[in-house]
Amino acid sequence: MRVYLDNNATTIVDPNVFAEMEPYFVQSYGNPNSLHQFGSESHPALRKAMDQLYKGLNASDNDDIVVTSCATESNNWVLKSIYYDHILNGEKDHIITSEVEHPAIISTCKFLEKLGVNVTYLPVNEKGIIETSTLKDAITDKTALVSIMWANNETGMLFPMKEISQICRENGILFHSDAVQAVGKIPVDVQELDIDFLSFSAHKFHGPKGVGGLYIKNSQALSPFFHGGEHMGGRRSGTLNVPGIVGMGKAMELAVENLDFEKNNVRRLRDKLEDAILKIDDVFVVGTREERTPNTILVSVKGIEGEAMLWDLNKSGIAASTGSACASEDLESNPVMEAIGAEADLAHTALRLSLSRFTTEEEVDYAVLALRKAVIRLRSISSTFAHTPDWHESKL
Ligand SMILES: Cc1ncc(COP(=O)(O)O)c(C=O)c1O
Repeated sequence: MRVYLDNNATTIVDPNVFAEMEPYFVQSYGNPNSLHQFGSESHPALRKAMDQLYKGLNASDNDDIVVTSCATESNNWVLKSIYYDHILNGEKDHIITSEVEHPAIISTCKFLEKLGVNVTYLPVNEKGIIETSTLKDAITDKTALVSIMWANNETGMLFPMKEISQICRENGILFHSDAVQAVGKIPVDVQELDIDFLSFSAHKFHGPKGVGGLYIKNSQALSPFFHGGEHMGGRRSGTLNVPGIVGMGKAMELAVENLDFEKNNVRRLRDKLEDAILKIDDVFVVGTREERTPNTILVSVKGIEGEAMLWDLNKSGIAASTGSACASEDLESNPVMEAIGAEADLAHTALRLSLSRFTTEEEVDYAVLALRKAVIRLRSISSTFAHTPDWHESKL
């Protein structure tokens, strides 16, 4: 059996999304900016997809949603253009973010620091989210932007978005959120939240890879990141990714339709998996269930390196993640575990399991068995796990 529990990394493309995209690869493949029929015949589908995106996020007609190649691009765009538009001219000098943002934010902030920008990385509490008092304390009259993720990619923990938005409004500061792990899992309403910029990515909600978006409130000014042929109203140049846009629109529509399913069914399976994991001795899960996206578990299994666990699970056909930078061949610790203050040996034992609306009960049952076996096997050869007298595999 193959069980995919790495949906925070990417998701299966919903077959209905794929069906919607296919004609724009092989039939209506013209450039939509061309004047002939091959080009123009994709216009209705593009309009429909943009409507689906506006509706999905509850954006108003005055707002802009600009399609990008991914959320990494959307995040880079906001941060770097805030620098060009508000910091380079000396008007402001400061950006606030959190310690647990995705590298698409953290690395961009590190780059901006080299250009002279002051960046505050807000610490997180033991649940892995910021305390809003730290945000209030960090604000100065030179703060140009607050960029805080909606849901953390490792823990699934939801940040206090409404309070953050209010603080930004009260202080006249622009507010951006990397909402990649929120869109499609919980309701995301940009008007209700009152946010200036919001990044999202289709491949995290059963759409295709290589297409994402940036929501911009009231079509406000933001220097383009890509200059060129003035596509997307001059906001983002580059020949339109027609199948990608069509796919992202359909994926958004389906994701919104399935929000109740996420809240009830995905969450039920996630909780079932979590309950089974918590029966194992010496494990701890980061954050509370109520405050997390319905699909995510970040668990530390004492005595077992996350990579060893992945390897063992992979042999049983199960895909999971350690949440560390996988490009490295070194054994890395989970950065969010480090940020919440977990001791180094625990931060090495992180295992992220993330479900989706395609995860089945049978898959979860199979994963529970495989996990238990992996724990027994790996703890029996662990040099760091001291077998306490009451620890016995029968307890699993
Ligand atoms: C919170 C968060 N932000 C940004 C990204 C980057 O998204 P993309 O793959 O679309 O560049 C990810 C992907 O894992 C993510 O989880």
